[in-house]
Amino acid sequence: MKNNEIIHACAPDAPIQAYIEHYAHMMNVSLEQSLAHSGAHPKLLEAMTYSIMAGGKRLRPILMIAAAEALEAELERIIPVACAVEMIHTYSLIHDDLPAMDDDDYRRGKLTNHKVYGEAMAILAGDGLLTHAFYTAAQAGSTDAQSMTQVLGVIREMAAFAGITGMVAGQAADMEGEQGITSLQQLEAIHLRKTGDLIVFALRAGGRLAGASEAQLQALESYGYGIGLAFQIQDDILDISGDPNKIGKAVNSDERTGKVTYPYFLGLEGSRRKMNELTSASKEAVQKAGLPHPSRLLQLADYLMNRDR
Ligand code: IPE
Ligand code: IPE
Ligand code: MG
Ligand code: MG
Ligand code: MG
Repeated sequence: MKNNEIIHACAPDAPIQAYIEHYAHMMNVSLEQSLAHSGAHPKLLEAMTYSIMAGGKRLRPILMIAAAEALEAELERIIPVACAVEMIHTYSLIHDDLPAMDDDDYRRGKLTNHKVYGEAMAILAGDGLLTHAFYTAAQAGSTDAQSMTQVLGVIREMAAFAGITGMVAGQAADMEGEQGITSLQQLEAIHLRKTGDLIVFALRAGGRLAGASEAQLQALESYGYGIGLAFQIQDDILDISGDPNKIGKAVNSDERTGKVTYPYFLGLEGSRRKMNELTSASKEAVQKAGLPHPSRLLQLADYLMNRDR
């Protein structure tokens, strides 16, 4: 299938559920193609493809696309970076589930990567996805100097938000925190890095590729940190009261592994209230940013808060 056969915008009046399905499908096809044409070692390719195609929600790519659409952008240039963010996210989950980290057996409703391919191949599948993400993002550049400069800026941010000052820093703090987190501020600081930063990267990248102003990028960033924390609160709530068939992993894993969570500090009701406040503040940031088409970002904020998977 050629790219222009799969890459087309969703109808502006489609309900948000259809919007999500439209772009999740586009991402599934694009990601599968990107890996299939990567030339990876066969076993490595199989392990990488297993986790990439295991049924993730593709939220980060969808947020990137929604940010770009808020300003009107060429979808063709967004998709390689959208694939890259999902590759980084998936690598982080493979490594997060390893025995040395959270030691989980199920992810996205399937056995975790190391349960199927063994620890060594799971580590390498993560390494492969992380590296291939940078290769893939670089495909967003074309021959003109302006677009190359823009993509270089996006790739620099990808390294920072996903890496040692961003998501990886959050994962490191999370591991250290297993010795005991004593305050909500400490917990929030971890979530802002381990979950928030990659979401913020996705939104800023969509904005940047669509030519957003600095003020608009700042608004996308505030929106991203707000919905990122709200997303994490819902993750913690679902761990207690979710349906394991829907969330694709066992419930009560946080309690079992002694994880400090939002409900631990605020209770279930307090956590829900906090999630509502964060969602409202995020929507307000976007509404004030003077984006020509903010409605998908607003709908996605509500959708994420009400998600059951
Ligand atoms: C799960 O992310 C891990 C967190 C950062 C909380 P998602 O809930 O987006 O996972 P997938 O991609 O749909 O599996
Ligand atoms: C995962 O956080 C965050 C990253 C992989 C960066 P968690 O460990 O809380 O996520 P789940 O609960 O395994 O999905
Ligand atoms: Mg973890
Ligand atoms: Mg985990
Ligand atoms: Mg969790």
